[in-house]
Amino acid sequence: MPIETCFPLAIYYEDLPDASQHQQGLIDAVLQLEQAGAERRNYPEMAWTGDLHGVEQIHTNPKFAWIVEQVERHTAIYLLELGVDLTKVDLYIQRAWPIVSRTEQEIGAHCHNTAHISAVYYIQVPAEGTYDPGRLVFFNDARVNEVSPGLGSENTDIVDADNYLNQLHAAYLPVEGRLLMFPAKQRHAVTMNETDELRLSLSFDIVLTATANAAGAYEFLTPPPSQWQKFRSGG
Ligand SMILES: [Fe+2]
Repeated sequence: MPIETCFPLAIYYEDLPDASQHQQGLIDAVLQLEQAGAERRNYPEMAWTGDLHGVEQIHTNPKFAWIVEQVERHTAIYLLELGVDLTKVDLYIQRAWPIVSRTEQEIGAHCHNTAHISAVYYIQVPAEGTYDPGRLVFFNDARVNEVSPGLGSENTDIVDADNYLNQLHAAYLPVEGRLLMFPAKQRHAVTMNETDELRLSLSFDIVLTATANAAGAYEFLTPPPSQWQKFRSGG
């Protein structure tokens, strides 16, 4: 009785071979940015995220040049695997920011609605041990096998055998030096850092547009920003 599956979510990752060479420089750069950032704007149980504190353009900061180059390279590989013709799209890092997660801090469920691909790079991860360093959790919002909507709700005991055909989330343990990419619209969260150590990561939001002169593509892919014109008046 075979059961086949289809429509897989593509989560890409690569352990960057020269990560350790760049680790200390990135740690120092992130902690400096955290110190210099705006006054804390989120709850203490939430990890410090640069995007909420005016630190969201690290892609233009030379201290992050190495990882930006890696993000560009691996985004291209990821898109090729997804069947995208890279000659027909331009790729942009739209924003990028650091995340500092201290003891008992987490990040609630969200999507990166203004981007197409999201990447995360783990600079420093507390050693695996008794306590969980916090996992990246992807939520199965499509629930393609939930034959009656809501059947898998936590409020019922109707689906009582968890298996790969009804799984509602997938959790990824962070790995130091790992770059991971996923569709930006995929809802996700980061569970609590239960260790006493810092967890440092970087987040990148990447956008695809059509290339110039790709007129037929513009109905489906944003035209290149070089062709836009900002309102000259206040509108
Ligand atoms: Fe996120």
